[in-house]
Amino acid sequence: MPRTFKATFLPMNVTVEVDPSQAPFGRMGEPGSILDIAQLAPREIYLDHVCGGVCACATCHVKVRQGLESCNPQSEDEIDMLTMADDVEESVSRLACQTIPDGSQNLIIEIPDQ
Ligand code: FES
Repeated sequence: MPRTFKATFLPMNVTVEVDPSQAPFGRMGEPGSILDIAQLAPREIYLDHVCGGVCACATCHVKVRQGLESCNPQSEDEIDMLTMADDVEESVSRLACQTIPDGSQNLIIEIPDQ
């Protein structure tokens, strides 16, 4: 049973409370994904998403600094698309629109320079 958790976005240092049972929160990215979660505070969290959240651009590249173990594994499509991003850190880089936390941990998400 998913529970409420916190997601903190850096460098803006904005934390949102996430109730996974309320997903989707916006209209872009997989429901409950990090991109979807960012839409809980659209004026404070700027996270690029040129393709609209369909795993076709890599502009939603983020580094999950905490809580990555609670997220779904990467698909082949995500791995392929992530090769287009700059400054990838293998163990923490993900595409925000494809990365769905299960709610078992709080997240710290760094948005690289865009
Ligand atoms: S928004 Fe384009 S790949 Fe995530």
